[in-house]
Amino acid sequence: TEPDPLEGEIMDKCLLLHAEHDFNASTFAARVVASTLSTCYCSISSAIGALYGSLHGGANQRVIEMAEEIGDKNNVAAWMEKALARKKKVMGMGHREYKAKDPRAHIIQKYLATLSEKKQDFRYYEILQEVEKVFRAKMETTGKPIYPNVDFYSGAVYRLLGIPAILFTPIFAMGRVAGWLGHILEQRSDNRIYRPESLWTGPEPRAYIPIEKR
Ligand code: COA
Repeated sequence: TEPDPLEGEIMDKCLLLHAEHDFNASTFAARVVASTLSTCYCSISSAIGALYGSLHGGANQRVIEMAEEIGDKNNVAAWMEKALARKKKVMGMGHREYKAKDPRAHIIQKYLATLSEKKQDFRYYEILQEVEKVFRAKMETTGKPIYPNVDFYSGAVYRLLGIPAILFTPIFAMGRVAGWLGHILEQRSDNRIYRPESLWTGPEPRAYIPIEKR
């Protein structure tokens, strides 16, 4: 069905906000595969595989699972105590590059507020806002502040648009694919195969002991 103009606009903006974003794990995976002179299809498949992981694009699906497990904003504080005691990572929080709230999260949070109002369904919005508040306060006291990333509010937006969680990574990939292809073409234009060196940190060489003497 045709989306109404507001929902269509939110979807377009979400695709833009998920566009390619520097040397993250999926872009790097695409470039490594491109550097072997494999096909575009194989490079993009590798990128999608990396994106699906819960520490990367798969996080938005995990955020929704977390919100459903919490169930109500009044349960957040107790849930957070337990999660942090178990050293559990809070999905949708933290970023290797951003040391402040991800600018994309600010924008997507506003879309979630708008959609929640439109649908008169505030459950995800209230729970996620409370998770953000409680988690930020906790992390600030440890001197290691951690803020929401692009995945924190996006899953809830998709849910309110009626999109099932299984499609979250494919949507993310749709937003990224043009940038991935740009990287693949750039890699091909001046290619050298990726071949990182590794540093052995195991035992120093030992004398060989014949098997019957062990
Ligand atoms: N919840 C709880 N603690 C977190 C955290 C989170 N979401 N993100 C980072 N931390 C803590 C780590 O436990 C670590 O603590 P330590 O120094 O006591 O060991 C410290 O902050 C540094 O984390 P680290 O995992 O080394 O940061 P990173 O730069 O390697 O990883 C992410 C960045 C995004 C992978 C990480 O923040 C994360 O796993 N976030 C949750 C998954 C997610 O939302 N991914 C989508 C990214 S767009």
